[in-house]
Amino acid sequence: MYSLRMRAEKEGMHVSGAERLVETIQEVQKLTRELIKRPKAFDKIVITLEKVEKIETVPKALTIYSYDFKCVEDAHNFAVEKLKEEGIKEEVARLALELLKNGPNPKGGNMRGAVLMDVETGERLEPDKERGIRTVRVDWKNRRSIEQRLKERGIKRYYINRLLDALALATKNVYCGVISELCWSDDPDYTTGYVAGKNIGYIRIKPMKEYGVPLGGRVYFVRKDNLHQLIECLEKRSVLVEGL
Ligand code: COA
Ligand code: AMP
Repeated sequence: MYSLRMRAEKEGMHVSGAERLVETIQEVQKLTRELIKRPKAFDKIVITLEKVEKIETVPKALTIYSYDFKCVEDAHNFAVEKLKEEGIKEEVARLALELLKNGPNPKGGNMRGAVLMDVETGERLEPDKERGIRTVRVDWKNRRSIEQRLKERGIKRYYINRLLDALALATKNVYCGVISELCWSDDPDYTTGYVAGKNIGYIRIKPMKEYGVPLGGRVYFVRKDNLHQLIECLEKRSVLVEGL
């Protein structure tokens, strides 16, 4: 198989990214054409194609749930309750919410990946706090059929691509050993976020931030031991999610 990745920059800033795990060079050609149409505006697109020796599979994605609230505060309180069900202490969950609210990059603004937060102490464990850790090399075994099933479940078109990417990513995270995850986008127009975990599933929550706010990010709640293996899994192992 091949790992096909696209990233786009405008004025030195990352503006778009997408990836696929594909079986044949014909598919690589087809998907490259599709992926380079993704960024609305760019100065540079980088396509990376790598051979993948070993593929791991996860039979079933985290189960999807969706909740809407009338304000961010209610949404955040609900997120804390759900994280508690995964064993995250309230003070650690609130620390993570504050981090994303204020922008998790110590130099201000967003990071280029996720925060790794010690589930016991709330300490940040990612080696580079401006960069964070990115989950890559993850895809659906049959993206088209999953897309179709999400449509049948009444998920609106606007949400489908993001949901497909974020659900596969959250499923891989749990597979690698992330205990739980908190996320909302840095896209000012997109206020739906989520919490995810092995027991709670993938819980979409709206609104996790006010409309127009350009700050967001991801916090992975993790155990301090085996950090090296966890990072290796998130960044390097190739995982296909088979079904919903
Ligand atoms: N955010 C910000 N900057 C990013 C980035 C991201 N998601 N991905 C890449 N970059 C930039 C960074 O400057 C990075 O340098 P760094 O490693 O010092 O941070 C540089 O591009 C090179 O990154 P690299 O890791 O070599 O990119 P890649 O070829 O492995 O591609 C993507 C990674 C783009 C496929 C991945 O980040 C991505 O966007 N995945 C798909 C979408 C997704 O899962 N989004 C989140 C869920 S909705
Ligand atoms: P997005 O959902 O794409 O708006 O991304 C929200 C935040 O998640 C970004 O600001 C990054 O900090 C982080 N992020 C983006 N891509 C990844 C990834 N592949 N793995 C982990 N974190 C990511």
